[in-house]
Amino acid sequence: MTKQWWKESVVYQIYPRSFMDSNRDGVGDIRGIISKLDYLKELGIDVVWLSPVYESPNDDNGYDISNYKKIMDEFGSMDDWEEMLEEMHQRDMRLVMDLVVNHSSDEHGWFVESRKSKDNPYRDYYIWREGKDGKEPNNWESVFSGSAWEYDETTEEYFLHLFSKKQPDLNWENPKLRQGLYDMMKFWLDKGIDGFRMDVINFISKVPTFPDAPSPEGKTYASGHEYFMNGPRIHEFLKEMNQEVLSHYDAMTVGEMPGVTPDEAVLYTGEDHNEVNMVFQFEHMDVDSGPGGKWDVIPFDLVKLKTILTKWQTELHGKGWNSLYWNNHDQPRIVSRLGDDGEYREKSAKMLATLLHLMQGTPYIYQGEEIGMTNVRFSSIEEYKDIETLNMYREKVAKGIDPEEIMKSIYVKGRDNARTPMQWNSGDHGGFTEGNPWIAINPNYKEINAEEALKDSKSIYYYYQKLIALRKEHEIIPYGSFELHYADHPSVYAYTRAYGNEKILVLCNVSGEKQVIENVASFDIKQADVLITNEENNKDDAFTLNPWEATAYYFKG
Ligand code: NOJ
Repeated sequence: MTKQWWKESVVYQIYPRSFMDSNRDGVGDIRGIISKLDYLKELGIDVVWLSPVYESPNDDNGYDISNYKKIMDEFGSMDDWEEMLEEMHQRDMRLVMDLVVNHSSDEHGWFVESRKSKDNPYRDYYIWREGKDGKEPNNWESVFSGSAWEYDETTEEYFLHLFSKKQPDLNWENPKLRQGLYDMMKFWLDKGIDGFRMDVINFISKVPTFPDAPSPEGKTYASGHEYFMNGPRIHEFLKEMNQEVLSHYDAMTVGEMPGVTPDEAVLYTGEDHNEVNMVFQFEHMDVDSGPGGKWDVIPFDLVKLKTILTKWQTELHGKGWNSLYWNNHDQPRIVSRLGDDGEYREKSAKMLATLLHLMQGTPYIYQGEEIGMTNVRFSSIEEYKDIETLNMYREKVAKGIDPEEIMKSIYVKGRDNARTPMQWNSGDHGGFTEGNPWIAINPNYKEINAEEALKDSKSIYYYYQKLIALRKEHEIIPYGSFELHYADHPSVYAYTRAYGNEKILVLCNVSGEKQVIENVASFDIKQADVLITNEENNKDDAFTLNPWEATAYYFKG
C-alpha cells in the first residue's frame, strides 16, 4: 500500500451557512471562515472540506447549484474566496471543494434552456421522458419524498430529479455535458484547490431504460436504487473524469457513495483503478434505521455496528481506502446518537473519537463535533429548515400520522440537528452572528461552546487535538492492520492494530455501566504505554472499563 498525504490527513468539514457570520445577515460566510482558520490550525487540521459555496437558490442549502463558477452572494465574493484559499495555504491547510454534479439547480442556465423545447441544444443535458399511461415514466421515489419525476408543461414531458424538484438530474450519457463539467472542475483546480468531495457520485449513471422498481406493498413509489446506484457506466465515467481532469493535478478525491459495498469500494478506490482516492459510505450510519428506512428509528446495536465497521476495515486493507466519520451535515450528532449527551457528554464524546480515529482510513471531523455539540429539539416544525425533513413531515401528516410521532423521529434523525449554528461562545447566538440566525441555535450554547473548550485543557477539543497529533506521530495508525476482539460483547468495542513489530490495543466501553472483560488475547499490559485515555484517574486493571472509558495502549516490539 503506497503512502499518500491524504491517508495521513485529518479533514474538517465546514457547512458554511452555519459556521461563522461576519456581516450580521444571520448566514455564515467566507470571511467568517477566514476569521476561524487559526482555530482549525490549532486543532491540527490538514484539509478543509467546504460544503457548496456556489451560486444557488438554496432549495437544498447550496446542493442545488445555479452557477458552478460563481460564489453565492450570501457567502461573499470570488475575491473573498481567493483570500480564504490563500490564508489556508499559508497555514499549510488544503481546501477540498464540494462537487455536486449528479444534478444542478433548475435555475442553472443549462436547465433554463433545456426545458424550453425538445430540440434545444441543452435538452439532453438533463433526463427527459414521456409519461406512461398518463402518469410518471416510472415509479421511482425522490429521496426527498414523492415521485422522482416532475411534469413540465412547456414540452409535455417529465424530467428526473432524484432529490428535490428544483434539483434536476444531469444526463451523464451526453458527452457534451461531461466536457462542460470537466471544464468546470479544471476552473477550480487551476485556481489552486486541493481536491473534491463528490456528492452522491455513484448515482450519475442510470439504467437507461428506466424500469419500474418493485414497490413494497401498499406503497406508490419505490426507491429504484438498484437502477442508479453504482449504475452500468459509473466506472467508465469516473475513469474518464480522472483521465481528463484529476490525473493532471495532485488532488484528493472522496466519493460520497450511498449503498456502496466494500467490493465495489475496491473498484472505485483501488490504486491502479484511477477513479477516486476514497469512498464516503453509509453502512454504519444505517444501524439505527429499521425496515421503513431512515425515519423508522430502532435502537443502535453495537454488535451490528462492529460487524459493519470491521468488514470495512479488513476488506479494504491493502486494496482501497475509506473515510472515517461519525457526523456530517446530513447526520444527527454522534454524542446524542451513540453516546450520552447528558452527564457523560464529554467522556462519551472522547470515547467515540478514540474508537474512530485509531482505525484505518481518513478521519473527518464535522464542525462542532470537536466541542461535543449535541442534537437539538425545536418544539415546533416551523423552526425546522431542512427540505428533507419538511417534505417528509408534510407527506406523513397528509397520511394521517400523528405529528408528535413524526417530531420524535426528527429529534433523532433530522438533518437540522447538525445544522444549528456553530457554538463559539456564550454571547448572543453563541457568537455565530450579531444578526438573526437563519436557523435557531441550540439553547445549550452557554455551556457548550468553543471558548469554554479552549480554556479547559481537559476539553473534548484538546482530546481531538491529541488524537490528530498521534496519527502524525505513528504510522501504525494510518497504515496498520486491524483485528476486532470481543465481537459479540454488547457494550465493549475492542480492537488491535498491528504494523511491523508495533501494536495498539484500543479498549472502549460504549455504555454507562462498568464492564469487566477477560484478557482474552493475553495482552501484556505492563509492557505497554498508554497512548491516550479519557480516564482521569489511574486504574489498576486495564480490563475493568469505567463508564464510557476509552484507553489505547501502545506496544513496541
Ligand atoms: C448529499 C448531500 O450530502 C446532501 O446534503 C444533499 O441533500 C444531497 N446529496 C443532494 O445533493
